[in-house]
Amino acid sequence: MLTEGSSQQNAQKKRAIQLRLLNELSAKLQSLLESEDFYQQIVNIIQSRFNCYSINIWSVEQLGFTLQAQAGAYRNHLKMGHLVPFSEGITGFVLRTKQSYLCNDVSNDRNFTNLSVPVDTKSELCVPIMKDGVVVAALNIESDQIDAFDEDDVITLEAVAFQVAVAITNRRLYSDARTFNKKLQLAVEEKTLELRRAHERILDQQRLLQKENKALKTLVSSQDNKGMEIVGKSPAILSLIAMADKIAPTTATVLIQGESGTGKELIARRLHYKGDRLGKPYVTVNCGALQESLLESELFGHEKGSFTGAVNQKMGLCETADGGTLFLDEIGEMSLGIQAKLLRFLQEGEFYRIGGKRPIKVDVRVISATNRDLEREVRENRFREDLFYRLNTITLRMPPLRKRKEDIPALVDYFLKNSRFGGAAQQIRRVDPRVIEVLTNYHFPGNIRELQNTIERLKILADNNEIRLEDVPFNIRMPKVKSEAGDFPIDMPLEDLEKNHILRALAYNHGNKTKTAQSLGITIKTLYNKLHRYGFLQAQNPNDSTVELSEQKGGPEISA
Ligand SMILES: Nc1ncnc2c1ncn2[C@@H]1O[C@H](COP(=O)(O)OP(=O)(O)OP(=O)(O)O)[C@@H](O)[C@H]1O
Ligand SMILES: [Mg+2]
Repeated sequence: MLTEGSSQQNAQKKRAIQLRLLNELSAKLQSLLESEDFYQQIVNIIQSRFNCYSINIWSVEQLGFTLQAQAGAYRNHLKMGHLVPFSEGITGFVLRTKQSYLCNDVSNDRNFTNLSVPVDTKSELCVPIMKDGVVVAALNIESDQIDAFDEDDVITLEAVAFQVAVAITNRRLYSDARTFNKKLQLAVEEKTLELRRAHERILDQQRLLQKENKALKTLVSSQDNKGMEIVGKSPAILSLIAMADKIAPTTATVLIQGESGTGKELIARRLHYKGDRLGKPYVTVNCGALQESLLESELFGHEKGSFTGAVNQKMGLCETADGGTLFLDEIGEMSLGIQAKLLRFLQEGEFYRIGGKRPIKVDVRVISATNRDLEREVRENRFREDLFYRLNTITLRMPPLRKRKEDIPALVDYFLKNSRFGGAAQQIRRVDPRVIEVLTNYHFPGNIRELQNTIERLKILADNNEIRLEDVPFNIRMPKVKSEAGDFPIDMPLEDLEKNHILRALAYNHGNKTKTAQSLGITIKTLYNKLHRYGFLQAQNPNDSTVELSEQKGGPEISA
């Protein structure tokens, strides 16, 4: 028998345990918010204080109560997740009444059920865990003793249930916040990706703009006349310039034909800057320098991914030249495939980027140039006839330099004063008059470019700022002389004719002056005198009967 004193002691001891339990729970519940086994941890804490015969937490799910955590008697018989219908046992009663239920002798309680497992429950206490007025779970403790629980236990367990209910609410809020955070993070990632893509698109646009910019730079230089002066007063060049200036303000397509180095590019630029398109792009494409597929994408551009390597969208030069002039240099080199596309562009005034679905309309004036005989290319089926007629609304034929020799002195003077390579202008004090004479007599197959290069070379070699005859390349001093009558202008001075003839004979005899003199029917002495007079020989050993023909190693040769 327990004395009153000892039962008071027991009650105090029990209250102390209950208080510690509540303390411990409130301290730990916060850290359990993220815990996977939230309910089991709670059960473990209660069990560590009470050491009950059985503790279970059942959550209310759609189909019934589901076992969430347990300790004690049922542990060997029920698995987690075990489902019990809402109508079953004391837990079912608590769900229906939303009230705690204490039974200190289950043998007389019809609400009790042992769930058909071999347990020895005598007392049971079940409290609801409520959230917003709804039972969401039930905390159940059982004892194998009759009269095991009292009012204090009910209050303690209800306090536990209340704390657990608050923790469940916090847990939900916490998980909602986490889900929201995740969604937010995903949204931020999506936006970041979108921004990155937008940034890439901007970079693409920038690249396109840079291209345009390049074209504009071409335009700026096209406005600047420096280095673009067309030197010459010969009737041939004057009438060409007059014609060019007349057609410059029109939109007519112009084909410039002429040998290499005759100034086709110079005239093309003049057509642009003397026309209404000054201030608009001037875009040059060298059709001979690019392989077919590259030329197509340069001219018409391409859409992103239209072929391997088309990593970005690209604007074509036809587009870049919109409003201005497109100069198709070396058009004779263009493949038949691109010729067809160019023809369509010239006919329709619009084109498609490679891989593009949308036609692009532009206003471009087309000028083309070639040193090939395009009529012949057409006859031999290497150039489309229809394109040829589209391109040559007007044809400008550049005269070769040999047909306007009178311009040579002015050109020499111009090139002496204007260096192609820039740098400080070199003061040339004197030019040997024979240099001009020799240059004028030369037939210049490379035309003005060859003359320009020759002058650059002479400037470099100039000793004491004087251009000397001996610095003139040997092939110019002793040029190839052809025998066709047409190669000698009818007004060629007799002396020049003789000079050329002697040079030809020398070349034919591989520089052997004895043989040359014999073939010309003159003495060696006379031949020497003439060569000296024409400035083709320095002081020679009179015993040497061979004229040294090559003035520099690997230099050009004279051929008959
Ligand atoms: N009348 C001229 N006055 C001054 N310089 C000239 C003249 N004609 C041509 N040039 C110069 O000669 C060089 C060659 O001219 P350009 O490049 O226009 O020739 P082209 O006919 O286009 O030659 P190619 O067929 O080889 O491309 C250039 O440096 C150019 O400035
Ligand atoms: Mg050219």
